[in-house]
Amino acid sequence: MSIALPIAVAGAASPLAEPAARLSSEAVGPRDLRSVRTLRISVTDHCNLRCIYCMPEEGLAWLPREALLSYEEIVHVARAALHHGIRDFKITGGEPLVRRDLVELVTRLRALPGCGELSLTTNGLLLARLAADLRHAGLDRVTVSLDTLQPHRFRELTRGGELSAVLEGIAAADACGLGPAKINVVVLRDYNLDEVAGFAAWTLREPRTVRFIEFMPLARSRVLSEGGQFVPYAEIRERIERRLGPLTPAPADAGFGPAQVFRAPGAPGRIGFIHAMSAPFCATCNRLRLTPEGRLRSCLFDAGEVDVRALLRPDVRAERLRRAFVECVVMKPELHGPAGDRQMSSIGG
Ligand code: 5AD
Ligand code: SF4
Repeated sequence: MSIALPIAVAGAASPLAEPAARLSSEAVGPRDLRSVRTLRISVTDHCNLRCIYCMPEEGLAWLPREALLSYEEIVHVARAALHHGIRDFKITGGEPLVRRDLVELVTRLRALPGCGELSLTTNGLLLARLAADLRHAGLDRVTVSLDTLQPHRFRELTRGGELSAVLEGIAAADACGLGPAKINVVVLRDYNLDEVAGFAAWTLREPRTVRFIEFMPLARSRVLSEGGQFVPYAEIRERIERRLGPLTPAPADAGFGPAQVFRAPGAPGRIGFIHAMSAPFCATCNRLRLTPEGRLRSCLFDAGEVDVRALLRPDVRAERLRRAFVECVVMKPELHGPAGDRQMSSIGG
């Protein structure tokens, strides 16, 4: 099915060409839909933790329930993504597992013809309870955010979370075929920099991927106002190499996203770095984002967004929805600017 394009898009072939077009070997840039592989779908801005780098102490005013896209509406957006050959979906939040009946969304996405890899990023608190049902519904893998392996620190960083619940969640995910769960660690100078080598050592024992994320100065948090907590990628890597030896580049999975991936000597697992601040990777970014209230965003930072909710309510306008992807991807920056003032939890990390 073809529609008139409102905007000229970089690259020779039509971005609306069938998915096979992406098999072409010509280089496609970040502003070309053929380079987009993953749609990150944030299903809620709610969270059952308040990490000190993510949220203010008093918490945030949550979006009212009616403001969130329904699962049916999300599926319409996913269908439009598939039309453009965007086949992989990552469910995020806030904390996606606090949204009611999330398993149903997984079932519906999995049922879409052409749906590729379905994954989920979670803080792990509710994972032990839900892992088997998510797997059964068709989820392929999970990433768990975990910044410390010390229970008292975990309580401080998350303002009250129980580390044991997250570890049980990881074990449950591994046991039911959603693993080995990938681990995302946000590194903060005075809170967990001394744990990075220990986290990296996890990859010596198991074929797990541990990714270290530079703190991003998104809006309002204790860590941001404290200042001085940012640790650049080079320093994190140096600490790890001092303990585990030199890291060598490792192949990334298809659709691995923006992390640079390495292996420590003799390790079955992999170590990744997400250095959005010290070395932006916009040129290879292969994702678009859908916010919980229905905005399609080209970048986590303050780039353009297209309001797709207006294309879903009161009636679904499927053609306009497809065109929204074209409009969104041309807003993708060659290089992102400074962070905007939205919370990570309201965009989807
Ligand atoms: N900087 C970097 N990562 C962040 N996350 C949340 N806020 C920030 C921030 N300011 C991470 C979470 C999780 C992912 C969804 O986003 O820890 O790994
Ligand atoms: Fe919740 Fe994730 Fe933010 Fe922590 S970082 S408060 S788990 S959304």
